[in-house]
Amino acid sequence: MKAIVLAGGNGSRLYPLTQVSSKQLQAVFDKPMIYYPITVLLAAGIQEICLISTPQDLPRFRQLLGNGARWGVSFDYREQPHPGGIAQAFLIAEDFIGKDRVVLMLGDNIFSGSDDFPRALSQLQEGAAIFAYHVSDPERYGVVEFDQNGLALTLEEKPARPRSGFAVPGIYIYDNQVVEIARALRPSPRGELEITDVNLEYLRRNQLRVHRLSRGFAWLDAGTSTALQEASAYVEAIERRQGIKIGCPEEAALVRGFIGIEQFEALLQNMPDCEYRTYLKNVAAESRRLGGVK
Ligand code: G1P
Repeated sequence: MKAIVLAGGNGSRLYPLTQVSSKQLQAVFDKPMIYYPITVLLAAGIQEICLISTPQDLPRFRQLLGNGARWGVSFDYREQPHPGGIAQAFLIAEDFIGKDRVVLMLGDNIFSGSDDFPRALSQLQEGAAIFAYHVSDPERYGVVEFDQNGLALTLEEKPARPRSGFAVPGIYIYDNQVVEIARALRPSPRGELEITDVNLEYLRRNQLRVHRLSRGFAWLDAGTSTALQEASAYVEAIERRQGIKIGCPEEAALVRGFIGIEQFEALLQNMPDCEYRTYLKNVAAESRRLGGVK
């Protein structure tokens, strides 16, 4: 299983923050936004990740994430020269996907909670899987209606009159048909290759599964100044209360066994003295104490 993280767009809704730094590099409390989706993927056991961004922003992502070796994963990078829609990612990353299945994740979606996502990943053999999350403002999103067996009934992009309260978050799981489906897409009235059109094609083929995210699950998007602030406040509240971090790729790499405890501790040597490092030192001490991590 491979994964694509789409971190494109010009972040116009976050202007002037985004004049010199991409939206997905902005801070969500104590980390760059992109750490959160990357951590979700690592925690789900995915080690091959392709990051897509604009030609201007891609060098900054490379600088931040490198080739992934220090976390026991590999990062590939591809440019999206012009915003052509989310589904364009499959065309840009076609050679990266090869014959594999692929997860697509939007770089500004923040998830925290249970293991719904790894479970859905392990269940998918064929077709596609999307998630459903109840929100107060479904008209801002892709909206899905589904039956009690998790089979999608209808799916609409930003409908004026939503048929359900369930939005589709920016994390999608596909088998290899997705490449061929993306190739056949035509731009929507807003001139983009829509991810909802990809999902509609799976629905037409009776191969679209919907996983309803459990109640305790948090999905936040960070596309506006208010949403960004709310996401930061949420992360801060959880982290302070529990003394654990959300969106910490080093920790996910250790827990998943992508790196051993020695490599994990070596990472700390290259970090300045800061709260993040103190946290990771505690993670290392705890995992040595439990002896469960090699
Ligand atoms: C996109 C998708 C939409 C999805 C949303 C999740 O919307 O088109 O279906 O619900 O991401 O963040 P956009 O952010 O492009 O408006």
